[in-house]
Amino acid sequence: MSAGSKVFKSDLLVGQTALITGGSSGINLGIARRFAEHGANIAIVARNPEKIARACEEIGALNGGRVLGCSVDVRDYPELAEQVQRTVAQFGPLDIVIAGAAGNFLAPAAAMSDNAFAAVVGIDLLGTFNTFRASFAHLHKPGARLLAISAPQATQVMPLQSHACAAKAGVESLVRNLAVEWGGRIGVTVNGISPGCVAGTEGVARLAGNGAMAGKLVSHLPIPRMATVDEMADLALFLVSPLATYMTGQIIALDGGVSLLGGGMRLDG
Ligand code: COA
Repeated sequence: MSAGSKVFKSDLLVGQTALITGGSSGINLGIARRFAEHGANIAIVARNPEKIARACEEIGALNGGRVLGCSVDVRDYPELAEQVQRTVAQFGPLDIVIAGAAGNFLAPAAAMSDNAFAAVVGIDLLGTFNTFRASFAHLHKPGARLLAISAPQATQVMPLQSHACAAKAGVESLVRNLAVEWGGRIGVTVNGISPGCVAGTEGVARLAGNGAMAGKLVSHLPIPRMATVDEMADLALFLVSPLATYMTGQIIALDGGVSLLGGGMRLDG
């Protein structure tokens, strides 16, 4: 039940190492927190050094200080690969990789600046590929569990979201491809989570604000409320646990039913 003097909620992940991109905030920080509560060593990979430092302090208090902060842009493959190697040098091979770094904003397709579309596709899709590619040589094989964070935009048209829709559709395709390429004798599973509106996240703040617009969006859902970060973290824990070892190439929607609504959400009012 414990490693050293630390008592965890369970010893499910004691001795395991999880690398989490975007791990300094939101859903990904919630996942880091949950994994730390169950004993995992955690590498927080994100861009902002102050946010990384705050996240590391919080995670270290949960798992006895077995946390490493890595400041890097997931679009920068050589730098990212270096940070993965730092993590492995500190904790050993990776058991779990969460590709969660994302960027988004509302923008009409015809009015986007030169770099806007590429910025979001670069962070979400190329960043997910870079994360998994940089990790591959250092994964526990067989047995490692990879998770990508997708979004309803992957399968639903949403005005002002052409960049995010394209990026997340690519992420889901990548999950299925890598599940096949890295399954078999390699023995790595690759899955994804598709969250809907998650309260308190930057994604919701950027797309729906935190007030009336968000309330209006969720009021039409089969489950008419926002999700919590904790609910996302619980699903991630399930997906990397021994309860889900036969699952690969799947995107699990934890979205209050938004993906059941044809036509997607209108974010343009
Ligand atoms: N609307 C339209 N275009 C925007 C924009 C907005 N709100 N914010 C940025 N852009 C454009 C910029 O103008 C720039 O293009 P340009 O060089 O042609 O002018 C391009 O996107 C890149 O912007 P930049 O400021 O260089 O940031 P970045 O490359 O680091 O991109 C973003 C990151 C833009 C996605 C930024 O919003 C971000 O980092 N977000 C992180 C957190 C987040 O979005 N979380 C929610 C996930 S759901």
